[in-house]
Amino acid sequence: MINWFADRSPYGVQEVHTMTQTVKIGKSSVETTPLGLGTNKVGGHNLFDGLKDEDGFRVVKAALDDGISLLDTAFMYGLGKSEEIIGDVIQDYDRDQFVIASKAAQDPNNNLQPNNNPAFLKQSVDDALLRLETDYIDIFYIHFPDDKTPKAEAVQALVDEKKAGKIKAIGVSNFSLDQIKEANVDDQVDIVEDNYSLVHRQAEQAEFGYLKDHQISFVPYFPLASGLLTGKYTPADASKFKQFSSDQYQTIMDNLEVVKGIAVAHSATVAQAILAWYIKNPDISVVIPGARVADQVHSNAKAMAIDLSDAEYQQIDQLFSQF
Ligand SMILES: NC(=O)c1ccc[n+]([C@@H]2O[C@H](COP(=O)([O-])OP(=O)(O)OC[C@H]3O[C@@H](n4cnc5c(N)ncnc54)[C@H](OP(=O)(O)O)[C@@H]3O)[C@@H](O)[C@H]2O)c1
Repeated sequence: MINWFADRSPYGVQEVHTMTQTVKIGKSSVETTPLGLGTNKVGGHNLFDGLKDEDGFRVVKAALDDGISLLDTAFMYGLGKSEEIIGDVIQDYDRDQFVIASKAAQDPNNNLQPNNNPAFLKQSVDDALLRLETDYIDIFYIHFPDDKTPKAEAVQALVDEKKAGKIKAIGVSNFSLDQIKEANVDDQVDIVEDNYSLVHRQAEQAEFGYLKDHQISFVPYFPLASGLLTGKYTPADASKFKQFSSDQYQTIMDNLEVVKGIAVAHSATVAQAILAWYIKNPDISVVIPGARVADQVHSNAKAMAIDLSDAEYQQIDQLFSQF
């Protein structure tokens, strides 16, 4: 059996399961598969055009049917709609078999401005529980920092929710390192979710050292760079990815051709090989690719069966070292 996770916990817990490999989240009791599902395109009509609710239902069902155990959602994805769709689908599944991560901060009574007020966060947990039709949320993140609530006070609200059994692990997202340190002053933060991918690697220098030292798990968002790293775009699509210079974009295209060679050796797609790189990366706990349709989920789930060699892992790492 593949030994992916012998040393992937941020604090060295060695866990190798024979049927389903799992990852432990921070200092909490939460365990999940190393590949989850990002659900901002499940009901996220306020963020993306052309979404269909029925695709959203199928996407969530596909994940659970394929043994993907973590569903990453947020109030912000459809202003509750993503959580509602998930809540609907999960009624047919055993609650012990999957993990829900949700987030709040955007205040619907104040133009969706970030609000970390303790009472607001507690109400947000209660509201999310209702939409998700469940008794507990495994991971709850403060989605964005606000500029007035002391971070430790915001986290204390989630500590209270944890003591009440409403959540099991505490996360922060889009916090700078200083804000993470302030939030984690009492060592209560289990997990951080931030923008990170092979073409956006700043978190490695900015955060990874602190997270490892404090037993905090890391979840990258935009792991496929919004689809760019699936290999489905061509040089002609450069204008869709304006964050990259034309030289950088061409480098990414060239690199993905090399990744394609590695993927083919595993009878895999480029997206699967890229996802397998995150799964093998000891600094990353769970990779949560998003999906618009169920077939993408079925395909991405297969990345859990790809065991990149150390040389292949290093080769992909080096290819993208300039980012
Ligand atoms: N904490 C935060 O502030 C924050 C911010 C952003 C996202 N997130 C979370 O992170 C998750 C991941 O980010 P993301 O979904 O925005 O970006 P991503 O994972 O980098 O890219 C996902 C997109 O790539 C395309 N795709 C996925 N699998 C594919 C496949 N096998 N073949 C071809 N195309 C494929 C799909 O878009 P198309 O089909 O439309 O091309 C999909 O929606 C989100 O879903 C959300 O849960 C969190």
